[in-house]
Amino acid sequence: MEEKRQSVHGQWSSRTAFVLAATGSAVGLGNIWKFPYITGQNGGGAFVLVYLICILIIGIPVMMGEILIGRRGRQSPSHSIAYLAKEAGAPRIWTLMGIMGISASFLILTFYVVIAGWAVAYIIVTASGTFTGASAEAVGAYFDDFLADSSGLIFWSTLVTLGTLVTVAGGVRKGLERAVTWLMPGMLVILLILVGYALSTGSFIEGFSFLFKPDFTKLSADGVLVALGHAFFTLSLASGVMIAYGAYLPEDTSIFQTSVIVCAADTAVALIAGLAIFPIVFAYGLDVSEGPGLIFATLPIAFGQMPFGTFFGTLFFIMLSFAAFTSAISLLEPTVAWIVERFSVTRLRAVVISGTVLWVLSLGTVFSFSKWAEIKLFGRTFFANLDYLTANIMLPLGGLLVAGFTAWAMKESATRDELGLGDSPVYSTWRFVMRYIAPVAIVIVFLAKLGAFKHFGIDLS
Ligand code: TRP
Repeated sequence: MEEKRQSVHGQWSSRTAFVLAATGSAVGLGNIWKFPYITGQNGGGAFVLVYLICILIIGIPVMMGEILIGRRGRQSPSHSIAYLAKEAGAPRIWTLMGIMGISASFLILTFYVVIAGWAVAYIIVTASGTFTGASAEAVGAYFDDFLADSSGLIFWSTLVTLGTLVTVAGGVRKGLERAVTWLMPGMLVILLILVGYALSTGSFIEGFSFLFKPDFTKLSADGVLVALGHAFFTLSLASGVMIAYGAYLPEDTSIFQTSVIVCAADTAVALIAGLAIFPIVFAYGLDVSEGPGLIFATLPIAFGQMPFGTFFGTLFFIMLSFAAFTSAISLLEPTVAWIVERFSVTRLRAVVISGTVLWVLSLGTVFSFSKWAEIKLFGRTFFANLDYLTANIMLPLGGLLVAGFTAWAMKESATRDELGLGDSPVYSTWRFVMRYIAPVAIVIVFLAKLGAFKHFGIDLS
C-alpha cells in the first residue's frame, strides 16, 4: 500500500480539534442571523422539519464527500481534486471545481467580514445602553444610520479582517486550532445562558411550538427550496472549506462519525438559537417575519425593554461575533493553502496577498449600504450580487460537482477505502444518495433559484 501522505500545512492535533474547527466553520451568521429569520418568514415548524430532512439526507453525505476528498488529497481543494482525478483517471477539468470552491469561499468572505463587523460593533453599541427603553422606530433608525456611516463600517470590518488574517497566518495548530479551542466553548456557554434567559421570559412555550409544531399549510414550495439551499450554506459546504479542513484530519478518524457530529452540532446550535430568539420576539409582540433585520433591528427592541437586557443583549452579540469569527477563518483557509502550494510562498506572504485583495473587495459591500446603494448591476447592489452569485449559483453547482466527483468520477474502491466503512449499509447508502438523490435535489434547487419555475409560481431569483 502506498505511503500515507501528509499535508504541508500540518494536521489537527486530534479529532476533537477537527470537530471544533469544522463546527466553528459551520456555526456562524447562518445559524444565528439567517436561520431564525428565514424560519420566521417561512412559517416555522414545517419549514424546520424540511430543513432537518435536508441536513440528514443531503448535508451529511455531501460533507462526508468533501472531507474524504480533502483527506485523500491532503492539499488545498483544487490540488486535492487534481490529485484524485489523476488517481481515478478522470479528466483534469475537475480541478476547476476546486478553483470554483476556493473562489466561492473567498467571495463569501468579502461580505462575511462586513456583517461580522456589524455584530462586533453591536457588542459596544448594546453594552453602552443605546437600546435601553428605545422605541422600535429608534432602534430601526439607529440601524439605518449605522449602515449609512461607511467609515464606521470600514473600521469594524477591518478589525474583523485583521483578526482573521492574524489567526490564519498562525497556521493550522497555532492559528486555527488555538482560536477555535477558546471561541467554541465560549460561544456554547453564552448560548446556554441565553436559552436560560429566554426560558425566564415567559413565552418559551410559544417559541417552542413555533419552531417544532409543523403546520404544513404555512409551508410554500419555495420554503422547501430555501430550506435546501440553507442546508448547504449553514454546513459550509460546496466551497472548499470542508475539503481544506479535511486535508488536516488525522488518518485514523472516522469521516462518517465526525460528519454526523458536526452536522448535529450545527443543527443543534441553529435550533437553540431559535429557542433563544423566538420566545423573546413573541414576549415583546415583535414581528417574526421581519426578515434580515430580525437580529439587528428587531431583537434590540426587546433587549431594550427586558430586565438585564443590556447585559444579555451584549452577551448575545459577543456570541454572534465568536460564531462569525470561527467561520471567517475557515473561509480564508482554502485560498491561503492554495496560494502557498501554487506559488511556493510562505503562509505569511499568502495571507498578506489574499488579505489585501480581501480588504479592497470588502469595501464594495460596505459601500453597497451607503454611497453605492443606487449603483446597480442586474438590479442588485454589489453586495446583493455577491450574495446571489455565491449562494444561488456557486454553492449549488459546487455541491452538485462534489456529488458527481465522489460518486461518479472517483473509483468506488477509493471512496470505500477512504471512508473506511467496509461493505456496511452506511457506505452503500452514502454512495446511492451521492449518485442519485443529492444531484437531483440540487438540480431542482438550482433551477428554482435561477427562476426556471417562475411559471409555476415559484420564484426565488
Ligand atoms: N456556515 C457558516 C454560517 O452558517 C458560513 C460559512 C462558512 C460558509 N464557510 C462557508 C457558507 C462556506 C458557505 C460556504 O454562517
